Amino acid sequence: MAIADHLEELKKTAKQMVVPGKGILAADESSGTIEKKFAKIGVASTEDNRRSYRGLFFTTPGFEEFISGVILFDETLRQSAADGRTFVSILQGVGVLPGIKVDQGTKEMDGSPNEKVTKGLEGLPERLKEYVELGAKFAKWRAVITIGDVLPTDANIRQNAKDLAAYAALCQEAGLVPIVEPEVLMDGGHGIEACADASERTLRAVFEELKKAGVAPEGMILKTNMVIPGKESGTKAAPETIAELTTTLFERVLPDELPGQAFLSGGQSEVEATENLNAMNKKGQFPWKLSFSYGRALQDSALKTWGGKPENIPAAQKAFYHRAKMNSLATLGKYTSEIEKA
Ligand code: 13P
Repeated sequence: MAIADHLEELKKTAKQMVVPGKGILAADESSGTIEKKFAKIGVASTEDNRRSYRGLFFTTPGFEEFISGVILFDETLRQSAADGRTFVSILQGVGVLPGIKVDQGTKEMDGSPNEKVTKGLEGLPERLKEYVELGAKFAKWRAVITIGDVLPTDANIRQNAKDLAAYAALCQEAGLVPIVEPEVLMDGGHGIEACADASERTLRAVFEELKKAGVAPEGMILKTNMVIPGKESGTKAAPETIAELTTTLFERVLPDELPGQAFLSGGQSEVEATENLNAMNKKGQFPWKLSFSYGRALQDSALKTWGGKPENIPAAQKAFYHRAKMNSLATLGKYTSEIEKA
């Protein structure tokens, strides 16, 4: 079907995903990534352990006050909890939208081996059709941009922008809201200016290609990085600086029709990710909502608390509930360090 046939529903879903006070939980780690996460706490990545871990988030009492949607991995979208209910029905039961990661990871770019392009366009229309039947309301595709001496190259930015746009158009044709995720990585010793520059080049190319592909900006969500110094730069920027550089960039590049931008956490600590989002929303209102779509910054404490032990599930749920609530407050600019500790 044409994008126009789905537009009203796409707009409604996109708005719901970034409604003030709520954001998205990214729980779509691929098999390799979840294995690494579990290895850090000494837990084997078996199907049962993945079921227990994912299930603890989806059955946290009251989490739906703060979480509008969850991004799932293919296995989880098809999986059931120990009591036999499908995870999709559990989420639907509390009004949380199920979403699905549809990219298939990254590979080296031809001609620029230190840069990455994303796999997964082949056969995508058929997969999207099945995901709609399984109950997905939105999708996600992640592209990564690397900062280095002479990186990112224009060729890499352009290829990733074109692939994101092709994916987003296919999603809207299938009736799924695309989360368009260009992530400028925090890895490296670069300063905040290099991140600002790479982010601006990337976002400009992404919105050019989205337009060319006929993607309706009002029926999508952007998920990009904050403008922030590299992890190995030895410097930290104040939340107010990050907020200023990030929101002024967005004001130059994002179309007003976009319902929202939901940040990735990208390696920031849980509290940093909350403080930085809060600083942006304290600046006032923008044409688009500024929300979160955090993976690590919503899961880290819960993961450590769980440690693979069923008896720790209630405590892990408490940790997740707290993080979700803190980020909910940050979408409203109402987070404080006092509330964090209370
Ligand atoms: P992080 O918040 O851990 O960066 O994960 C978000 C995500 O979905 C990356 O694709």
